Amino acid sequence: MATFQAPKGTYDLIPPYSAKYLAVRDAISGPLRLSGYGYVETPGFEDVDLFARGVGESTDIVTKEMYTLTTKGGANLALRPEGTASVLRAALEANLHKAGGLPVKLWYSGSYYRYERPQKGRYRHFSQVGAEAIGAEDPALDAELIILADQAYRSLGLRNFRILLNSLGDKECRPVYREALQSFLSGLDLDAETVRRAEINPLRVLDDKRADVQKQLVGAPVLRDYLCDACKAYHEEVRALITAAGVAFEDDEKLVRGLDYYTRTTFEFVHDGLGSQSAVGGGGRYDGLSEMIGGPALPSVGWALGVDRTVLALEAEGVELDIPASTSVFAVALGEAKPVLFGLVTELRRAGVAADISYGGKGLKGAMKDANRSGARFAIVAGDRDLAEGVVQLKDMESGEQSPVALTDVVEVLRTKLA
Ligand code: HAM
Repeated sequence: MATFQAPKGTYDLIPPYSAKYLAVRDAISGPLRLSGYGYVETPGFEDVDLFARGVGESTDIVTKEMYTLTTKGGANLALRPEGTASVLRAALEANLHKAGGLPVKLWYSGSYYRYERPQKGRYRHFSQVGAEAIGAEDPALDAELIILADQAYRSLGLRNFRILLNSLGDKECRPVYREALQSFLSGLDLDAETVRRAEINPLRVLDDKRADVQKQLVGAPVLRDYLCDACKAYHEEVRALITAAGVAFEDDEKLVRGLDYYTRTTFEFVHDGLGSQSAVGGGGRYDGLSEMIGGPALPSVGWALGVDRTVLALEAEGVELDIPASTSVFAVALGEAKPVLFGLVTELRRAGVAADISYGGKGLKGAMKDANRSGARFAIVAGDRDLAEGVVQLKDMESGEQSPVALTDVVEVLRTKLA
Protein backbone atom coordinates (compact mmCIF):
# COMPACT_ATOMS: atom_id res chain seq x y z
CA MET A 1 0.00 0.00 0.00
CA ALA A 2 1.30 3.48 -0.81
CA THR A 3 2.30 5.44 2.28
CA PHE A 4 1.10 8.95 3.03
CA GLN A 5 3.12 12.16 2.90
CA ALA A 6 2.68 15.53 4.56
CA PRO A 7 0.48 17.74 2.32
CA LYS A 8 2.20 20.03 -0.18
CA GLY A 9 3.66 23.12 1.44
CA THR A 10 3.81 21.57 4.90
CA TYR A 11 6.47 19.72 6.83
CA ASP A 12 6.75 17.80 10.08
CA LEU A 13 8.82 18.79 13.07
CA ILE A 14 10.78 15.81 14.22
CA PRO A 15 13.27 15.35 17.07
CA PRO A 16 15.99 16.43 17.55
CA TYR A 17 15.29 19.26 15.05
CA SER A 18 11.92 20.06 16.64
CA ALA A 19 13.70 21.14 19.85
CA LYS A 20 14.86 24.25 17.97
CA TYR A 21 11.24 25.26 17.39
CA LEU A 22 10.41 24.95 21.06
CA ALA A 23 13.50 26.98 21.94
CA VAL A 24 12.57 29.70 19.43
CA ARG A 25 9.00 29.90 20.74
CA ASP A 26 10.34 30.17 24.29
CA ALA A 27 12.85 32.84 23.32
CA ILE A 28 10.22 34.96 21.54
CA SER A 29 7.63 34.66 24.27
CA GLY A 30 10.14 35.13 27.11
CA PRO A 31 10.43 38.93 26.85
CA LEU A 32 6.63 39.22 26.46
CA ARG A 33 5.98 37.20 29.60
CA LEU A 34 8.30 39.59 31.46
CA SER A 35 6.40 42.60 30.16
CA GLY A 36 2.82 42.08 31.26
CA TYR A 37 1.53 40.05 28.29
CA GLY A 38 -0.90 37.25 29.19
CA TYR A 39 -1.24 34.06 27.16
CA VAL A 40 -4.25 33.76 24.85
CA GLU A 41 -5.31 30.82 22.70
CA THR A 42 -8.04 31.00 20.06
CA PRO A 43 -9.51 28.36 17.72
CA GLY A 44 -7.68 27.33 14.57
CA PHE A 45 -10.69 28.43 12.49
CA GLU A 46 -13.03 31.40 12.59
CA ASP A 47 -15.98 32.86 10.71
CA VAL A 48 -14.63 33.68 7.26
CA ASP A 49 -16.01 37.23 7.48
CA LEU A 50 -13.80 38.03 10.45
CA PHE A 51 -10.78 37.84 8.15
CA ALA A 52 -12.55 39.29 5.11
CA ARG A 53 -13.50 42.39 7.10
CA GLY A 54 -10.41 42.50 9.30
CA VAL A 55 -7.52 41.60 7.03
CA GLY A 56 -9.19 43.18 4.00
CA GLU A 57 -11.28 42.12 1.01
CA SER A 58 -8.61 43.13 -1.50
CA THR A 59 -5.62 41.47 0.13
CA ASP A 60 -3.94 38.39 -1.32
CA ILE A 61 -4.53 36.66 2.01
CA VAL A 62 -8.31 36.98 1.69
CA THR A 63 -8.76 36.74 -2.08
CA LYS A 64 -6.33 33.92 -2.80
CA GLU A 65 -4.84 32.33 0.26
CA MET A 66 -7.57 31.36 2.71
CA TYR A 67 -8.54 27.76 3.35
CA THR A 68 -12.30 28.08 3.57
CA LEU A 69 -14.92 25.48 4.30
CA THR A 70 -18.63 25.19 4.81
CA THR A 71 -19.64 23.03 7.75
CA LYS A 72 -22.46 20.49 7.68
CA GLY A 73 -24.41 23.09 9.67
CA GLY A 74 -23.86 25.67 6.94
CA ALA A 75 -21.32 27.92 8.72
CA ASN A 76 -18.64 29.50 6.53
CA LEU A 77 -15.31 29.12 8.24
CA ALA A 78 -11.68 29.75 7.37
CA LEU A 79 -8.53 28.24 8.83
CA ARG A 80 -6.89 31.24 10.42
CA PRO A 81 -4.40 32.91 8.06
CA GLU A 82 -3.15 35.20 10.85
CA GLY A 83 -3.70 35.89 14.55
CA THR A 84 -4.58 39.54 15.05
CA ALA A 85 -8.23 39.46 14.00
CA SER A 86 -8.84 36.31 16.09
CA VAL A 87 -7.18 37.70 19.21
CA LEU A 88 -9.09 40.97 18.97
CA ARG A 89 -12.33 39.04 18.40
CA ALA A 90 -11.60 36.95 21.51
CA ALA A 91 -10.77 40.03 23.62
CA LEU A 92 -14.00 41.74 22.53
CA GLU A 93 -16.07 38.61 23.11
CA ALA A 94 -14.67 38.23 26.64
CA ASN A 95 -15.09 41.97 27.28
CA LEU A 96 -11.46 42.19 28.34
CA HIS A 97 -11.46 45.84 27.30
CA LYS A 98 -14.14 46.56 29.90
CA ALA A 99 -12.59 44.47 32.67
CA GLY A 100 -9.97 46.88 33.87
CA GLY A 101 -7.03 48.91 32.72
CA LEU A 102 -6.13 49.30 29.09
CA PRO A 103 -4.17 48.20 27.19
CA VAL A 104 -5.04 44.53 27.30
CA LYS A 105 -1.70 42.87 26.54
CA LEU A 106 -1.82 39.36 25.07
CA TRP A 107 0.62 36.93 23.47
CA TYR A 108 -0.01 33.77 21.48
CA SER A 109 1.73 30.95 19.69
CA GLY A 110 0.24 28.69 17.08
CA SER A 111 -0.29 27.39 13.56
CA TYR A 112 -1.52 29.54 10.66
CA TYR A 113 -2.60 28.54 7.18
CA ARG A 114 -2.19 30.27 3.83
CA TYR A 115 -2.66 28.69 0.44
CA GLU A 116 0.52 30.18 -1.01
CA ARG A 117 2.92 28.89 -3.63
CA PRO A 118 5.35 26.90 -1.48
CA GLN A 119 9.04 27.70 -1.53
CA LYS A 120 11.83 27.88 1.02
CA GLY A 121 10.54 29.94 3.94
CA ARG A 122 6.98 30.06 2.57
CA TYR A 123 4.67 27.28 3.65
CA ARG A 124 0.95 26.57 3.66
CA HIS A 125 1.12 25.70 7.32
CA PHE A 126 3.50 27.79 9.40
CA SER A 127 3.90 28.92 12.94
CA GLN A 128 3.97 32.32 14.59
CA VAL A 129 4.45 33.76 18.04
CA GLY A 130 2.56 37.03 18.30
CA ALA A 131 1.72 39.86 20.67
CA GLU A 132 -1.16 42.32 20.69
CA ALA A 133 -1.58 45.36 22.94
CA ILE A 134 -5.22 46.35 22.69
CA GLY A 135 -6.89 49.63 23.59
CA ALA A 136 -4.20 52.27 23.98
CA GLU A 137 -2.79 54.93 21.72
CA ASP A 138 0.67 55.52 23.09
CA PRO A 139 3.94 55.66 21.14
CA ALA A 140 5.64 53.91 24.07
CA LEU A 141 3.52 50.83 23.39
CA ASP A 142 4.61 50.68 19.75
CA ALA A 143 8.21 51.14 20.90
CA GLU A 144 7.84 48.49 23.60
CA LEU A 145 6.79 45.87 21.07
CA ILE A 146 9.60 46.66 18.64
CA ILE A 147 12.14 46.58 21.48
CA LEU A 148 10.80 43.24 22.78
CA ALA A 149 11.03 41.60 19.34
CA ASP A 150 14.58 42.91 18.99
CA GLN A 151 15.39 41.51 22.44
CA ALA A 152 13.91 38.12 21.49
CA TYR A 153 15.96 37.84 18.30
CA ARG A 154 19.13 38.94 20.07
CA SER A 155 18.60 36.46 22.91
CA LEU A 156 18.61 33.73 20.26
CA GLY A 157 21.94 35.00 18.95
CA LEU A 158 20.59 36.50 15.72
CA ARG A 159 22.53 39.53 14.51
CA ASN A 160 22.00 40.02 10.76
CA PHE A 161 18.43 41.26 10.89
CA ARG A 162 17.17 44.74 10.16
CA ILE A 163 14.12 46.60 11.38
CA LEU A 164 12.22 48.56 8.74
CA LEU A 165 9.92 51.26 10.08
CA ASN A 166 7.23 53.39 8.50
CA SER A 167 4.05 55.30 9.31
CA LEU A 168 0.95 54.69 7.22
CA GLY A 169 -0.92 57.70 8.56
CA ASP A 170 -4.39 57.71 10.06
CA LYS A 171 -7.99 58.25 8.96
CA GLU A 172 -7.32 61.99 8.59
CA CYS A 173 -4.29 62.02 6.37
CA ARG A 174 -4.27 58.67 4.63
CA PRO A 175 -7.38 59.36 2.47
CA VAL A 176 -5.76 62.54 1.16
CA TYR A 177 -2.62 60.62 0.25
CA ARG A 178 -4.68 57.79 -1.19
CA GLU A 179 -6.40 60.18 -3.56
CA ALA A 180 -3.12 61.73 -4.66
CA LEU A 181 -1.63 58.28 -5.26
CA GLN A 182 -4.72 57.10 -7.13
CA SER A 183 -4.58 60.06 -9.43
CA PHE A 184 -0.86 59.36 -10.09
CA LEU A 185 -1.56 55.66 -10.73
CA SER A 186 -4.40 56.42 -13.13
CA GLY A 187 -1.84 57.95 -15.50
CA LEU A 188 0.25 54.76 -15.68
CA ASP A 189 0.15 51.82 -18.04
CA LEU A 190 -0.98 48.99 -15.73
CA ASP A 191 -2.66 45.62 -16.28
CA ALA A 192 -6.32 45.15 -15.40
CA GLU A 193 -5.70 43.46 -12.06
CA THR A 194 -3.32 46.19 -10.92
CA VAL A 195 -5.80 48.86 -12.00
CA ARG A 196 -8.41 47.11 -9.87
CA ARG A 197 -5.99 46.98 -6.95
CA ALA A 198 -5.25 50.69 -7.43
CA GLU A 199 -8.96 51.35 -7.00
CA ILE A 200 -9.38 49.25 -3.86
CA ASN A 201 -6.05 49.69 -2.11
CA PRO A 202 -3.61 51.87 -4.08
CA LEU A 203 -0.90 51.59 -1.41
CA ARG A 204 -0.52 47.92 -2.23
CA VAL A 205 0.53 48.84 -5.77
CA LEU A 206 3.67 50.41 -4.29
CA ASP A 207 4.52 46.94 -3.02
CA ASP A 208 4.43 45.41 -6.52
CA LYS A 209 7.64 43.46 -7.05
CA ARG A 210 7.65 43.62 -10.89
CA ALA A 211 10.43 45.75 -12.38
CA ASP A 212 8.21 47.34 -15.09
CA VAL A 213 5.74 48.48 -12.44
CA GLN A 214 8.48 49.74 -10.12
CA LYS A 215 9.95 51.76 -13.03
CA GLN A 216 6.65 53.53 -13.53
CA LEU A 217 6.35 54.24 -9.82
CA VAL A 218 9.36 56.55 -9.79
CA GLY A 219 8.06 59.97 -8.80
CA ALA A 220 4.91 58.62 -7.12
CA PRO A 221 3.68 60.76 -4.22
CA VAL A 222 5.21 59.68 -0.91
CA LEU A 223 3.06 59.17 2.17
CA ARG A 224 5.61 60.90 4.40
CA ASP A 225 4.83 64.20 2.65
CA TYR A 226 1.14 63.78 3.46
CA LEU A 227 1.29 62.73 7.12
CA CYS A 228 -0.77 65.04 9.35
CA ASP A 229 0.91 66.77 12.29
CA ALA A 230 -0.52 64.28 14.81
CA CYS A 231 0.82 61.29 12.86
CA LYS A 232 4.18 62.97 12.35
CA ALA A 233 4.53 63.74 16.07
CA TYR A 234 3.42 60.22 17.00
CA HIS A 235 5.95 58.67 14.64
CA GLU A 236 8.77 60.88 15.88
CA GLU A 237 8.07 59.76 19.45
CA VAL A 238 8.15 56.09 18.47
CA ARG A 239 11.46 56.66 16.67
CA ALA A 240 12.94 58.53 19.64
CA LEU A 241 11.97 55.83 22.13
CA ILE A 242 13.42 53.02 20.02
CA THR A 243 16.58 55.01 19.43
CA ALA A 244 16.95 55.70 23.16
CA ALA A 245 16.72 51.94 23.78
CA GLY A 246 19.69 51.44 21.48
CA VAL A 247 17.66 49.56 18.87
CA ALA A 248 18.75 50.38 15.33
CA PHE A 249 16.13 50.70 12.57
CA GLU A 250 15.81 51.95 9.02
CA ASP A 251 13.10 54.32 7.83
CA ASP A 252 11.37 52.65 4.91
CA GLU A 253 8.68 54.80 3.35
CA LYS A 254 7.81 51.99 0.91
CA LEU A 255 6.88 49.54 3.67
CA VAL A 256 3.16 48.85 3.17
CA ARG A 257 2.56 45.30 4.54
CA GLY A 258 0.08 42.82 3.12
CA LEU A 259 -2.82 43.37 5.53
CA ASP A 260 -5.26 46.26 5.30
CA TYR A 261 -5.82 47.00 8.97
CA TYR A 262 -2.65 48.96 9.59
CA THR A 263 -2.58 52.63 10.58
CA ARG A 264 0.38 54.76 11.66
CA THR A 265 3.32 52.65 12.90
CA THR A 266 4.22 49.67 10.70
CA PHE A 267 7.41 47.65 10.84
CA GLU A 268 9.02 44.54 9.52
CA PHE A 269 11.99 42.47 10.67
CA VAL A 270 13.98 41.28 7.68
CA HIS A 271 16.88 38.88 7.57
CA ASP A 272 19.36 39.20 4.75
CA GLY A 273 20.32 35.52 4.66
CA LEU A 274 16.91 34.23 3.59
CA GLY A 275 16.54 35.13 -0.08
CA SER A 276 13.13 36.30 -1.25
CA GLN A 277 11.18 35.30 1.89
CA SER A 278 13.23 37.67 4.01
CA ALA A 279 10.55 38.93 6.44
CA VAL A 280 11.03 37.05 9.69
CA GLY A 281 8.37 39.10 11.45
CA GLY A 282 6.14 42.11 11.11
CA GLY A 283 3.47 44.17 12.68
CA GLY A 284 2.10 47.58 13.41
CA ARG A 285 -0.71 49.67 14.74
CA TYR A 286 -4.31 48.87 13.79
CA ASP A 287 -6.41 51.62 15.33
CA GLY A 288 -9.52 50.92 13.24
CA LEU A 289 -9.70 47.12 13.30
CA SER A 290 -11.96 46.83 16.33
CA GLU A 291 -14.62 49.00 14.67
CA MET A 292 -14.23 47.06 11.41
CA ILE A 293 -15.24 43.88 13.22
CA GLY A 294 -18.09 45.45 15.15
CA GLY A 295 -16.37 46.58 18.34
CA PRO A 296 -15.82 49.98 19.96
CA ALA A 297 -12.86 52.20 19.09
CA LEU A 298 -9.81 50.40 20.49
CA PRO A 299 -6.52 51.66 19.10
CA SER A 300 -4.07 48.76 19.22
CA VAL A 301 -0.65 47.58 18.10
CA GLY A 302 1.02 44.20 17.72
CA TRP A 303 3.35 41.93 15.83
CA ALA A 304 3.83 38.33 14.81
CA LEU A 305 7.19 36.68 14.32
CA GLY A 306 7.44 33.66 12.04
CA VAL A 307 8.93 30.69 13.86
CA ASP A 308 9.82 28.77 10.67
CA ARG A 309 11.71 31.71 9.19
CA THR A 310 13.41 32.50 12.50
CA VAL A 311 14.79 28.95 12.54
CA LEU A 312 15.98 29.40 8.92
CA ALA A 313 17.60 32.71 9.90
CA LEU A 314 19.46 31.00 12.76
CA GLU A 315 20.72 28.39 10.31
CA ALA A 316 21.72 31.07 7.79
CA GLU A 317 23.82 32.75 10.48
CA GLY A 318 25.22 29.44 11.71
CA VAL A 319 23.85 30.01 15.22
CA GLU A 320 23.74 26.81 17.27
CA LEU A 321 21.18 27.06 20.04
CA ASP A 322 22.27 25.78 23.42
CA ILE A 323 19.68 23.05 23.79
CA PRO A 324 20.39 20.77 26.77
CA ALA A 325 20.20 17.00 26.17
CA SER A 326 16.70 15.82 26.98
CA THR A 327 18.00 12.91 29.09
CA SER A 328 20.45 13.31 32.00
CA VAL A 329 20.53 9.73 33.25
CA PHE A 330 20.10 6.54 31.23
CA ALA A 331 19.55 3.17 32.86
CA VAL A 332 20.94 -0.05 31.43
CA ALA A 333 19.45 -3.13 33.06
CA LEU A 334 21.02 -6.56 32.61
CA GLY A 335 19.71 -9.94 33.69
CA GLU A 336 16.89 -9.60 36.19
CA ALA A 337 17.69 -5.99 37.10
CA LYS A 338 15.00 -4.40 34.90
CA PRO A 339 12.24 -3.98 37.54
CA VAL A 340 14.66 -2.45 40.04
CA LEU A 341 16.15 0.02 37.53
CA PHE A 342 12.72 0.79 36.16
CA GLY A 343 11.71 1.73 39.72
CA LEU A 344 14.84 3.84 40.06
CA VAL A 345 14.11 5.69 36.84
CA THR A 346 10.59 6.41 38.08
CA GLU A 347 12.05 7.75 41.33
CA LEU A 348 14.57 9.92 39.45
CA ARG A 349 11.82 11.38 37.26
CA ARG A 350 9.72 12.14 40.33
CA ALA A 351 12.76 13.90 41.78
CA GLY A 352 12.93 16.09 38.67
CA VAL A 353 15.86 14.33 36.97
CA ALA A 354 15.43 13.65 33.24
CA ALA A 355 15.86 9.90 33.05
CA ASP A 356 15.26 7.13 30.54
CA ILE A 357 15.84 3.40 30.32
CA SER A 358 16.61 0.90 27.59
CA TYR A 359 13.56 -0.96 26.28
CA GLY A 360 13.09 -4.05 24.21
CA GLY A 361 15.27 -6.56 26.07
CA LYS A 362 18.60 -5.44 24.58
CA GLY A 363 21.96 -6.77 25.69
CA LEU A 364 24.73 -4.61 27.19
CA LYS A 365 26.09 -3.43 23.83
CA GLY A 366 22.74 -2.38 22.37
CA ALA A 367 21.61 -0.75 25.61
CA MET A 368 24.86 1.23 25.92
CA LYS A 369 24.33 2.45 22.36
CA ASP A 370 20.92 3.74 23.48
CA ALA A 371 22.60 5.44 26.43
CA ASN A 372 25.09 7.18 24.11
CA ARG A 373 22.41 8.21 21.66
CA SER A 374 20.31 9.74 24.46
CA GLY A 375 23.03 12.28 25.22
CA ALA A 376 22.77 11.38 28.94
CA ARG A 377 25.50 12.67 31.24
CA PHE A 378 25.40 9.50 33.38
CA ALA A 379 24.43 5.88 32.87
CA ILE A 380 23.42 3.55 35.64
CA VAL A 381 24.21 -0.04 34.79
CA ALA A 382 23.22 -3.01 36.91
CA GLY A 383 23.06 -6.80 36.59
CA ASP A 384 22.13 -9.56 39.01
CA ARG A 385 25.50 -9.47 40.83
CA ASP A 386 25.29 -5.69 41.45
CA LEU A 387 21.81 -6.02 42.87
CA ALA A 388 22.91 -8.88 45.12
CA GLU A 389 25.50 -6.44 46.52
CA GLY A 390 22.90 -3.65 46.77
CA VAL A 391 24.66 -1.37 44.24
CA VAL A 392 24.44 -0.03 40.70
CA GLN A 393 27.41 0.98 38.55
CA LEU A 394 27.37 4.72 37.94
CA LYS A 395 29.10 5.59 34.69
CA ASP A 396 30.22 9.11 33.81
CA MET A 397 29.52 9.22 30.07
CA GLU A 398 32.05 12.01 29.49
CA SER A 399 35.09 10.58 31.29
CA GLY A 400 34.08 6.93 30.97
CA GLU A 401 34.78 6.43 34.70
CA GLN A 402 32.60 3.94 36.51
CA SER A 403 32.08 3.28 40.22
CA PRO A 404 29.56 1.40 42.39
CA VAL A 405 26.96 3.44 44.30
CA ALA A 406 24.56 2.01 46.89
CA LEU A 407 21.06 1.58 45.49
CA THR A 408 19.66 3.56 48.40
CA ASP A 409 21.93 6.56 47.63
CA VAL A 410 21.78 6.68 43.88
CA VAL A 411 18.96 9.22 43.47
CA GLU A 412 20.59 11.65 45.90
CA VAL A 413 24.06 11.17 44.40
CA LEU A 414 22.77 11.86 40.91
CA ARG A 415 20.78 14.87 42.02
CA THR A 416 23.89 16.36 43.60
CA LYS A 417 26.12 15.58 40.64
CA LEU A 418 23.64 17.11 38.17
CA ALA A 419 22.84 20.20 40.27
P1 HAM B 1 2.44 38.81 8.49
O1 HAM B 1 3.52 39.75 8.05
O2 HAM B 1 1.47 38.36 7.50
O3 HAM B 1 1.73 39.52 9.70
O4 HAM B 1 3.12 37.52 9.15
C1 HAM B 1 4.08 37.63 10.16
C2 HAM B 1 5.23 36.65 9.91
O5 HAM B 1 4.72 35.33 9.75
C3 HAM B 1 6.00 36.90 8.63
O6 HAM B 1 6.97 37.92 8.82
C4 HAM B 1 6.63 35.56 8.38
O7 HAM B 1 7.80 35.39 9.16
C5 HAM B 1 5.57 34.61 8.89
N1 HAM B 1 4.81 34.07 7.74
C6 HAM B 1 3.76 34.63 7.11
N2 HAM B 1 3.34 33.85 6.10
C7 HAM B 1 4.16 32.77 6.08
C8 HAM B 1 4.26 31.58 5.26
N3 HAM B 1 3.40 31.35 4.28
N4 HAM B 1 5.23 30.69 5.56
C9 HAM B 1 6.10 30.90 6.56
N5 HAM B 1 6.06 31.98 7.36
C10 HAM B 1 5.10 32.91 7.12
C11 HAM B 1 0.69 39.00 10.41
O8 HAM B 1 0.36 37.86 10.35
C12 HAM B 1 0.06 39.99 11.36
N6 HAM B 1 -1.05 39.32 12.06
C13 HAM B 1 1.11 40.52 12.33
C14 HAM B 1 0.52 41.49 13.33
C15 HAM B 1 0.19 41.22 14.61
N7 HAM B 1 0.21 42.76 13.10
C16 HAM B 1 -0.32 43.28 14.20
N8 HAM B 1 -0.34 42.37 15.11
